[in-house]
Amino acid sequence: MPDPAPAIRLRRVDKSFGAGEARIFALKQADFEARAGELIMLVGPSGCGKTTLLSVLAGTLRADAGEVEAFGRRLDGLGQAELTAFRRANLGFVFQSFNLIPTLSVRENVMVPLLIQGASRAEAVRRADAMLAKVGLGGREDGPPTALSGGQQQRVAIARALVHEPRLLICDEPTSALDKDTGQKVMAMIRDLSRSPDRCVVVVTHDHRIFRHADRIAEMEDGRIRRVVDDPSTLDTPAS
Ligand SMILES: Nc1ncnc2c1ncn2[C@@H]1O[C@H](COP(=O)(O)OP(=O)(O)OP(=O)(O)O)[C@@H](O)[C@H]1O
Ligand SMILES: [Mg+2]
Repeated sequence: MPDPAPAIRLRRVDKSFGAGEARIFALKQADFEARAGELIMLVGPSGCGKTTLLSVLAGTLRADAGEVEAFGRRLDGLGQAELTAFRRANLGFVFQSFNLIPTLSVRENVMVPLLIQGASRAEAVRRADAMLAKVGLGGREDGPPTALSGGQQQRVAIARALVHEPRLLICDEPTSALDKDTGQKVMAMIRDLSRSPDRCVVVVTHDHRIFRHADRIAEMEDGRIRRVVDDPSTLDTPAS
């Protein structure tokens, strides 16, 4: 069978930061594809461009050159308002630094994507609380995220990214602050979301303990994808 059409595609994407002598080329003619219904992981050394690639996929950073396509739609040519609308309708993002809103309660942080999509307040509360219970944070809904541990904050960030069941879920090191069991539980939730023909999930990770949840693993080096491993179980992963 031919490969299914990719849900997400980056083609020959360049992205640099700064100017002159200090200019850093974070993405160099990067090509990347994710298929509908899959969970693809992106691995590579610190500074190789993983977060930059995710940000271009998510539309939070604009590429200098190249094409970005999601679900059959070109994103690189969209105006700011259209891009924001696309993100609100389709995207969940777990940031490497969590990016929780400190002035909102834990529950309100998770309600944000639902309210943006037009859910009623009562519906948003119900779904936020259910998602927080799933990530093991029942009882912490009313407090501020700043009162939580790093791993707990990370789970709030994950709940916020999953709660509206986005078509495209992007996770930057989603298990970095979690113990092994919590990490496995969270990855199983993330993987469940990907098991739908109109969704896809991209996860950046250094955590070899979660490789087994991937359908494919893309290895990145110095601003581009070096190779894609179709069967992650063949990867040499240290025992944990
Ligand atoms: N906003 C920025 N301004 C200047 N340089 C940046 C910016 N963001 C990223 N870079 C540079 O681009 C390169 C790629 O950074 P990026 O954050 O994508 O790496 P990464 O693979 O996610 O690394 P890590 O595993 O440490 O998170 C690095 O050299 C970084 O210093
Ligand atoms: Mg990063």
